[in-house]
Amino acid sequence: MSGPTPLIIAIDGPAASGKSTVAKRVAAELGCVFVNSGGMYRAFTWWVLQKGIVAEDTPSVLDLLAATDFACGEENGVGTITIGETRMTSSEMASTEVNANVSVIASIPEVRERLVAEQRRYAERNGVVMEGRDIGSVVFPGTPFKFYIDASPEVREQRRRSEGITDSIAKRDRIDSSRKASPLVIPKDALVVDSSDLSADEVVETVMASIRSRLV
Ligand code: DC
Repeated sequence: MSGPTPLIIAIDGPAASGKSTVAKRVAAELGCVFVNSGGMYRAFTWWVLQKGIVAEDTPSVLDLLAATDFACGEENGVGTITIGETRMTSSEMASTEVNANVSVIASIPEVRERLVAEQRRYAERNGVVMEGRDIGSVVFPGTPFKFYIDASPEVREQRRRSEGITDSIAKRDRIDSSRKASPLVIPKDALVVDSSDLSADEVVETVMASIRSRLV
């Protein structure tokens, strides 16, 4: 006997578009698990650098990938990732070194395959709000709830500066949008929300209104 279909909300967009803030709040409103898929690519990038491997050395990255166990879980409604014995924390995942290397690691197809399989596992167990670059286009193309949160490059750079984070946003966007494997695209049936001149409340309300209108 199959149960009710779990709710899957896909939220994509470029770096610093505000999608994490929005996805977290939408997940809380719906009682779903929030999963930051970028955090999974960041966690593995941290692990690669920790092992002294250069991100561009693909054969060594692939050897490490084959030897790595990922355990994805959930705590207080938020997805967690453990690599080997190490439970990843946001300070490790948001370091300047990780920011500078994550797009190179995320462009390797085998890395994506492994992490996409983990991402799909979340949805088997729970309702999920997942944010990333390819969630609506590749990870969950069948969900009717797809959103693409955008903002101008100036607004996005300014947001990162005000968080005190050093991040090469323009460079990451370029790599993320031009790579061969699952590039950042607007899924064809996604609702696009430009957050440049909107508050987080307004973006959350726009997304929630769209979801509610289709749930009744
Ligand atoms: O969302 P973020 O900026 O933390 O993501 C970090 C990097 O991970 C981003 O530059 C590209 C990659 N990423 C990806 O390739 N696919 C995803 N679904 C999420 C992130």
